[in-house]
Amino acid sequence: MRDVAIIGVGMTKFGELWEQNIRDMFAEAALKAMENANVEKIDALYVGAMSSGLYAFQEHLGSLMADYIGQVGVPAVRIESACSSGGQAVRMGFLDVASGMHDIVLVGGVEKMWDVEDGTFVLATASDQEYEAYNGVTFPGLYAMIARAYMEKYGLTREELAQVPIKNHKHAVNNPNAQYPFEIDLKTVLNSSMVADPLRLMDCSPITDGAACIILCPLDRAKEFTDKYVKIRGVGAASGPIALHDHKDLTRLEAVFLAGQRAYNMAGVTPNDINFVEVHDCFSIAEIVVAEELGFFEYGKGGKAIAEGQGTYGGKIVINPSGGLKAKGHPVGATGVAQIIEAYYQLTNQAGKRQVQNARIGMTQNMGGSGGSCVVHILEGM
Ligand code: COA
Repeated sequence: MRDVAIIGVGMTKFGELWEQNIRDMFAEAALKAMENANVEKIDALYVGAMSSGLYAFQEHLGSLMADYIGQVGVPAVRIESACSSGGQAVRMGFLDVASGMHDIVLVGGVEKMWDVEDGTFVLATASDQEYEAYNGVTFPGLYAMIARAYMEKYGLTREELAQVPIKNHKHAVNNPNAQYPFEIDLKTVLNSSMVADPLRLMDCSPITDGAACIILCPLDRAKEFTDKYVKIRGVGAASGPIALHDHKDLTRLEAVFLAGQRAYNMAGVTPNDINFVEVHDCFSIAEIVVAEELGFFEYGKGGKAIAEGQGTYGGKIVINPSGGLKAKGHPVGATGVAQIIEAYYQLTNQAGKRQVQNARIGMTQNMGGSGGSCVVHILEGM
């Protein structure tokens, strides 16, 4: 396999983008990425999107986007894996370049979530319809069960859990693309409206419009285009049980563990080598469980460690310097690509006030549903 580099990135602001439809958002991100990478022509295109059919009544995104950004003729497909669609699209683009099939590959993710009235229903189509959604359980309810099980097993308090969104909102203040770039305090979290006990509004990632794109090429060609590039050093993906009741232990997300191990093995690094990580904090409890599965904390100790400041600047590892899904926003199909963009900014020293000092190796973790799919990337600055 050839080594693969990221040579340019582009994204929209995340939030309520009433003036842009799905193709406008994608085109903005894609054209910014191409300009950033100094490329005018691409060889292939991958688009991650979870449910463009139900959210924007538009399928066939690969060809639509290739045409709309002036690249008609290239092979172009959409990749779907629920909320991990963006990260999985990056993996497909990586494989395409690594295999030698194509040289310049555009990978993007997009979701237009605000145009439908009941976005929660659309999201629930990524759960097990017959056992979960038909019985009225949506994702806040599923993650609430994980939170209950974790709090009971490990003694995590409601106040400690609240420290996850408090930290992520603090990080987002320095992210100009974030949906909610403001600080919140303990009172705000504990007084926010109950969504699914024990999870409140401030424990939940929001409904978000947005798009994010990157350009990949073989590492040995990167310098032809730019002096700001990063290497994709490890890639790991895994599937897990789609229904929560099929997990052996509600406090574990085994697909995250498997994907993490595969990425660590490929990259030849351990959790101690990682300077920062962008994790899939769709709900506050998810960040804790994921950080444990990736080996940053022992099982049962991640919640308290993050509450004590081990997941922020000056702690053990900076988790979600971008603000994470909670505060940066979560346009589901775009999220995995946006995580890679944050890692690119950090590793090329372009993250401004949220820069992690001396960042050399970063990780991204993107997952679908309640752990039904996961993809992890390890990136290295050059
Ligand atoms: N964090 C912070 N503020 C939020 C927010 C969030 N997650 N969600 C909404 N808000 C704000 C809105 O901006 C709005 O503020 P305003 O009154 O000043 O305009 C207010 O809270 C109410 O917003 P509204 O859209 O009416 O909230 P809602 O009750 O319809 O939706 C959730 C809130 C949490 C139910 C919804 O965001 C949700 O379903 N999130 C989970 C998404 C999800 O499952 N993703 C996939 C994960 S696997």
